Formats: sequence, structure tokens, C-alpha cells
Amino acid sequence: MPDRIRLDGRVAVVTGAAGVIGTATLHLFAARGARIVAVDRREADLKAAIKALPASAEALAVAADVTSEDEVKEYVRSAVDRFGAIDAFYNNAGIEGDIKPIQDYSLESFRRVLDVNVVGVFLGMKHVLPVMLKQNKGSIINTASIAGLMGSPMIAVYSASKHAVIGLTKSAAWECTGTGVRVNCVCPGMIDSRMLSTILQGRSGGNAPPPVEKIVDRIPARRLGLATEVASIVAFLASDEASYVSGSAYTVDGGRTAA
Ligand SMILES: NC(=O)c1ccc[n+]([C@@H]2O[C@H](COP(=O)([O-])OP(=O)(O)OC[C@H]3O[C@@H](n4cnc5c(N)ncnc54)[C@H](O)[C@@H]3O)[C@@H](O)[C@H]2O)c1
Repeated sequence: MPDRIRLDGRVAVVTGAAGVIGTATLHLFAARGARIVAVDRREADLKAAIKALPASAEALAVAADVTSEDEVKEYVRSAVDRFGAIDAFYNNAGIEGDIKPIQDYSLESFRRVLDVNVVGVFLGMKHVLPVMLKQNKGSIINTASIAGLMGSPMIAVYSASKHAVIGLTKSAAWECTGTGVRVNCVCPGMIDSRMLSTILQGRSGGNAPPPVEKIVDRIPARRLGLATEVASIVAFLASDEASYVSGSAYTVDGGRTAA
């Protein structure tokens, strides 16, 4: 019986590929045999992420801003030109925005966070879906957050944007009824990363953030998560092992939202 968790020969597009979670996913996709199109607006970091992959990995780097429809069209076109298909799309680029209460949050920052986290995810799906619908198969995995499932002080705009990602995901899953295309999202919790440190620092108002032991006190797993642990769920959702999974928001949070 074939190993349904392998991604041999599959074409996987990953946005936010130069970031912590994106890079971990590139490595896991490559290890499972996927051919990769890595997208990020930070070109030098993107190239470095690709260079760090095993020499056997087939990977293409495309520098693009996910908020620009032209650039989104371009990374989709590059993937199809190079590999002829898109089997998995990890729609993952995102920003945390400012760490401030709503009354201090500027409209400009509000719009920027929605632009990257919601418009970027929307545009990615808008241009990848026609490719997958034509193939009658494909798996889209958007990155939401546990902040998309509950309120999050000082990052209300980020939280609102991730609630929107979950809504887009579930609606897209319905729109793909009977097509062979599955749409899901992952909701990472507190992942040991630059983004989490920035949020914790911002919430402390410039003071030292609370010690890790205090932060993990409200997580049943009693530790922060690893980017590789998010990648594992993404690779599962990309694979045939998840053939009956669509419209789901998968928490990867050590149980943080279980209460
Ligand atoms: N780190 C966490 O604890 C955590 C928790 C929950 C959800 N998430 C989500 O996971 C995703 C990845 O987060 P991460 O921790 O790897 O963060 P990160 O900052 O390390 O990576 C995000 C990547 O997205 C890229 N990016 C940002 N705006 C872009 C744009 N307009 N166009 C193209 N690329 C752009 C950045 O250059 C960066 O490489 C994000 O959507 C984030 O909101 C992270």
C-alpha cells in the first residue's frame, strides 16, 4: 500500500516561506518528496531558506508581496510554468502588526494587518483555486491562529484578521463541494518564534516579558510549540492521508484552547 503521508512529486506552494513556520514546512515538504515553490517578500532570506534545503530538493524561489494581485498571479504562473500543477498551497504569510490597545491603534496599521493577513490569503486562494479546480484535486491550507478562535488583548486587529481567515477557509471549503479540492486552516498556538517574542515583549510595555514558565502555565502541554509541529499538521493536510478533511480549523496549541 502506498505511503499516503508522502508527497512524492507533488507541487507545493508555500507563502511566508522565509519565516519560522514557513521554513520548517519547506524542510518537511522536501523530506516527504514534494517539489516546492517558496514565496516571500524578503528575497535574500527566501534564497537563504532555499539554499538550506537538501541538495536533492527541487525548489523554486519567487519573491512576491502577497498583497499585490499582480505578484500573486506571478507566483501562481511561475509554479505552473515550472512544474505544471499546484497540488498543495500553504497560504501562510502573515504579520502580527502593532501590539497596542484598540484606542492607540492607528487606522493605517489596522489596514496593513488586514491587507497582509486577509487580502493576501484571499488573493492566494483566488488565483490558486482555478488551477486546482481544473486539476479536480488540490489541498489548500491557510494559516489562522488560536487568536482566530478567541479574543487576544493588544493584538485585536491580528485576532480579527485570523477570525477572517477561518471564515474564508470554511466558506471556500463549501464552494469547493464535489470538486476534489480541500480547504483547511491551521491555528497555531504559542510557537517558539520571533513573532511570539515580539507579541510578548509588546504586551509587557517595554519591560521584560514574563518568564516562559509563567506563559506555559495555561498550556496543558506545559511548553511552547515548535514550528516543526505546525509543519507536521500542514504536511498531513497536504497529503492523501487527510482525504476526508475539509473546512477544518486545526489547533496546534498544546491544548491551550481546550478550556
Ligand atoms: N509564531 C507564532 O507563534 C504563530 C502563532 C499563530 C499563528 N502564526 C501565523 O503563522 C504564520 C507564520 O508565522 P511565523 O511565526 O513563521 O512568522 P514570521 O514572521 O517568521 O514569518 C512570516 C513570513 O511572512 C512574510 N510576509 C509578511 N508579509 C508578507 C507579504 N506582504 N508578502 C509576502 N510575504 C510576507 C515575512 O517576510 C515572513 O518571512 C503567520 O501567518 C502567523 O500569523 C504564528
